[in-house]
Amino acid sequence: MIGLLSAMDEETELFRQNIQIEVSTTYAGITFNKGLLNGIEVVHSKCGVGKINAAAATQLMIDKFGVKSVIFTGLAGTLVPYLKRGDIVISNFVGQHDFDLTAFGKRPGQVTDGGRLIEADPKLVQIAAKAYEDTLAQNRKDAQMVVGTIVTGDSFVANSDRLKWLQREFGAVAAEMEGAAVGQVCQANKVAFVIIRVISDGASGDAAGQFIMFLDEASELSYKIVAAMLPQIK
Ligand code: ADE
Repeated sequence: MIGLLSAMDEETELFRQNIQIEVSTTYAGITFNKGLLNGIEVVHSKCGVGKINAAAATQLMIDKFGVKSVIFTGLAGTLVPYLKRGDIVISNFVGQHDFDLTAFGKRPGQVTDGGRLIEADPKLVQIAAKAYEDTLAQNRKDAQMVVGTIVTGDSFVANSDRLKWLQREFGAVAAEMEGAAVGQVCQANKVAFVIIRVISDGASGDAAGQFIMFLDEASELSYKIVAAMLPQIK
C-alpha cells in the first residue's frame, strides 16, 4: 500500500477527484481516503500544516493502513538563487531546521547523536525524478528539476537572513513545513519515503503572497508526478 500526503486542501484536490475512494476513515481528526488511483491501491490524506500534523498522519498511515511507501507532495520556498517558481525539488535528505539543542553542544537540527539529516528512499527518489522527466519535462523547457536537501520547520520562511542561514548551515535547496517529520516517522518504522516539492516562492519578502498565487498550479504539477510514479513502485 502506498501512502500519499499533502498539507493543504488545494494540494489534495486533484487526488480526491481522481481516487476511486473505497473507504474514508477519520483518526485523530485526520481523514484518510483509501482507494484506487489509476488502478493502484493508495491511501491519501490531507494532514494539515506543520510537523506535528505530518508526523501524526504518517504514523497513522503506517499503523492503520500498513503503508510501505509514503510520498509527500506540496510547495516549498527556494533557498538557492538558481531555483525559481515552478521548479521541482525531490528530497534526497530532509532535516529539521528548528530543532535546537545547540545549548548542549549539538549542531543545529541534530536530533540524536550524529543524526542531523535523514535520507529519503533512493529508489523513490529515482522513480520521482524519472516520472518528472518522462511526463512533464518535455513541455516545461524553462523549468528545472533537482534532487537535494529539504529543510523543515514549524515556520513559514519569509526572511532573507534566515534563508541564507538555512542554505549555509544545512546545504539545503528548499524550505517547507512537513518533510522531515514524515522522514523521521518513516525512518523509525523502516518505511520508504520521498518528499516532492514545487517551488512557490523565494522564502523572503513577499513569500506568502507568492505562495498563495501559485498554490493551484503547483498542486497540479505534484499530482501529475505522483500519478506517473505509482506504476513504478513495487
Ligand atoms: N512552503 C512554501 N513556501 C514556504 C516557505 N517560504 N517557508 C516554509 N514553507 C513553505
